[in-house]
Amino acid sequence: MPSKASNAHPHVTHAQLDLRRRPRRLRRSAVMRALVRETRLSPENFLHPLFVVPGEGQRREVGSMPGVFQLSVDEIVREAAAAKADGLLGVLLFGLPDAKDPVGSAAYDPEAPVQSAVRAIKREVPGILVVTDVCLCEYTSHGHCGIIIDDEIANDPTVEQLARSALSHAAAGADIVAPSDMMDGRVGRIREALDNAGFSQVAIMSYAAKYCSAFYGPFREAADSTPAFGDRRSHQMDPANVEEALREVELDLDEGADIVMVKPALAYLDVIARVKAEFGVPTAAYHVSGEYAMLKAAARNGWIDEPRAMMETLTSIRRAGADIIITYYAREAARVLA
Ligand code: PBG
Repeated sequence: MPSKASNAHPHVTHAQLDLRRRPRRLRRSAVMRALVRETRLSPENFLHPLFVVPGEGQRREVGSMPGVFQLSVDEIVREAAAAKADGLLGVLLFGLPDAKDPVGSAAYDPEAPVQSAVRAIKREVPGILVVTDVCLCEYTSHGHCGIIIDDEIANDPTVEQLARSALSHAAAGADIVAPSDMMDGRVGRIREALDNAGFSQVAIMSYAAKYCSAFYGPFREAADSTPAFGDRRSHQMDPANVEEALREVELDLDEGADIVMVKPALAYLDVIARVKAEFGVPTAAYHVSGEYAMLKAAARNGWIDEPRAMMETLTSIRRAGADIIITYYAREAARVLA
């Protein structure tokens, strides 16, 4: 039998290193790596965002988001059942109404797509959590997140509309309402409205630190919510700020938020880490439409290995401190983990 030394490359000589620490020992095999892995992903970490449209039998793929569909209520029920079968715990619903007006009144129409979808999922897919996005931008004719008075988004009247909307979601059976509007004081007002109406068991997941991001582009196609003029800088946060994010989170917790969210995820991993470290509360991160679309586009061009890039991205968000990841990859990632 040749000795071990004779197997070494004949041209390579080396000094005898006296290494007491060899980190590579723990990377030698898949089982060894699994044993010492610090961050684990589970389908239970993911929430699955869905877009509900009026009608029946509707399943329209969003051009900029391959694999994401606008679905009518009957299709949403099938999608929620499939998500549950993949091991996911919940879905997050966005709605596209039949008609829009300047004050977004379809947001609290009990027969609108979201409210109908909540009832249908609760009836037909027992056990899955139903989370609803609360905002006016999908419901206003101008595409802004609130009521416009004197060319400005008027905070307090908007908050009243948001509370009405959250209440209608709770009445339909939502487990969690998720205000994404970034108006001041909305968490407290929604909490009060829910409690006064007997919905104290309904939780609030606030989009606490939501940045004014270019990465929402594809979502606005999916949700038909592009502002007709201007932008969202008067309420969404400046991407340059992190101390402000901590103040926003603190305010929302004071007002009664049960879960806080940072959004987007990838360009804000430091914010996720700070929020989790400083508050220690259930923390969500939204891996948003543009982040998803970039991976899809690169994968379609053959430029990246999509399953690996997907898992690496989701792992990084979890490693930063997110307990919950809202991602359009939820089902795909759950299937990889199965
Ligand atoms: C509604 C809302 C938006 C997103 C979630 N809720 C869009 C926006 O603020 O313009 C973005 C989600 C995504 O990009 O995936 N206000």
